[in-house]
Amino acid sequence: MALRSIRVDGDEILRKESKPVDKFDRRLEMLIEDMWDTMYDANGIGLAAVQVGVLKQVIVIDTGEEDEQLVLINPEIIAMEGNICEAEGCLSIPGKSGYVNRPETVTVRALDENGKPYTRTGTGLLARCMCHEIDHLHGILYTDKTVDAPEGEKD
Ligand code: NI
Repeated sequence: MALRSIRVDGDEILRKESKPVDKFDRRLEMLIEDMWDTMYDANGIGLAAVQVGVLKQVIVIDTGEEDEQLVLINPEIIAMEGNICEAEGCLSIPGKSGYVNRPETVTVRALDENGKPYTRTGTGLLARCMCHEIDHLHGILYTDKTVDAPEGEKD
């Protein structure tokens, strides 16, 4: 088990574009292993490689629901539907959260850790998490998208 340090907001790497993965080698395998360890250690449900300082299009997600432990490499959103405004947070912005509009349902095309293509449709939390993490690959943080709390959900 190897933990990598999580980059926090203000670190300029978080604003950079991640590059597509083209080599499925031992180095990538180790990155993914370390990302799982780092994410679970921080009690997160998703992590993008840039958050541990690696500008590669690699994401791990585990929302805690059954069958929702995903590795997304070079992911692309190919369909989305609906809209839900809910609070979300980010391991790179510790202790904070904000309301963000996200699609209710998202379909993503990606490669798995072996380079095999797959598509996955997620709803609710999984859809939100996939969008949030894919944003990271393009230098976008959720705080770029926050809106006021919806009526009835204000403190
Ligand atoms: Ni995040």
